[in-house]
Amino acid sequence: MGTILGIINTKGGVGKTTVSNALASEFSRRGLKTLVIDFDSQASQTYLMGLNANQYIGTEHDISNIFEEKPVKPLKIKDNLYLIPSNKNLKEQAESGKRGREYYLRNFLKGDEFFGETRGVADEFDIVIIDSEGGGGTLETSVEVASDYVLIPIRPTLLDETGTLLTIETLIQNIKHFRLKDLSLLGFIAVDFDKRAKEPLERYADLKLSLPGLLRKVPFLKLSAPPEEIFLPELYRRTVWAKAAANQMLIHDYIEKYETYSKDLLLLLKQIGDEVLKRAGLIQTINN
Ligand SMILES: Nc1ncnc2c1ncn2[C@@H]1O[C@H](COP(=O)(O)OP(=O)(O)OP(=O)(O)O)[C@@H](O)[C@H]1O
Ligand SMILES: [Mg+2]
Repeated sequence: MGTILGIINTKGGVGKTTVSNALASEFSRRGLKTLVIDFDSQASQTYLMGLNANQYIGTEHDISNIFEEKPVKPLKIKDNLYLIPSNKNLKEQAESGKRGREYYLRNFLKGDEFFGETRGVADEFDIVIIDSEGGGGTLETSVEVASDYVLIPIRPTLLDETGTLLTIETLIQNIKHFRLKDLSLLGFIAVDFDKRAKEPLERYADLKLSLPGLLRKVPFLKLSAPPEEIFLPELYRRTVWAKAAANQMLIHDYIEKYETYSKDLLLLLKQIGDEVLKRAGLIQTINN
């Protein structure tokens, strides 16, 4: 069974799509068969992967088919990298009031336990990364219900801090409500972190102090690392992210082709990738 990693944060613009895209690029290069699910009706991930989202509406690749219990075929982006694209209809489909709608993504990926299905689409991959929509609606809940691990990108500013706390609160409620006993919080990752500005530095230091205590208070919340080590290495603010995105290129491909002086970022992504795989139990020992 492929490991399912949900990238969540209720707040918009904190780096969910950037992190999902970069991790998918990192893992597929390592030879892990990787599926990315764009589970946001804005379809930013689909555009980042170089595709036009609207062209897949009504096709066998249409993500909305999940809510009709119809199959969805992943698109091959490159070796070891596959995508299920999104489109603008996804949110409406998800919120359409169907009973048990939060389980459709899970059943698609893992098989429907009720009918004795033990295999789903995740079984065809080593890792499935779900780029979640924010806002705390059905899409975000579905990602939590379907995932084995969740990773929470954060932007250390006042407003985003409130969003992070809300995300944790909602996650805890959903774990209780949907009895997500196997779901584990893989970690937090600071994204677009400007270490030269005072506010983010202070906010981040605050979060690093306060979050471990908060997590420790919830006995049923599974953590993939000790609370004090739950933060992954930070992704500092760099212009190369926007440049790669504008060219609809994966970060590794862009840096290798146009900006070799940014190769330090690829080393950092390797380090983050190692840690994510280790926390998700996908590698026991790290070989550099
Ligand atoms: N380390 C970084 N340096 C500079 N810019 C960054 C960095 N990380 C992310 N960004 C930029 O921040 C913006 C928001 O990121 P992203 O789209 O990944 O957030 P999101 O959480 O997926 O947003 P949404 O909730 O709208 O889906 C993007 O324009 C992205 O290029
Ligand atoms: Mg996004």
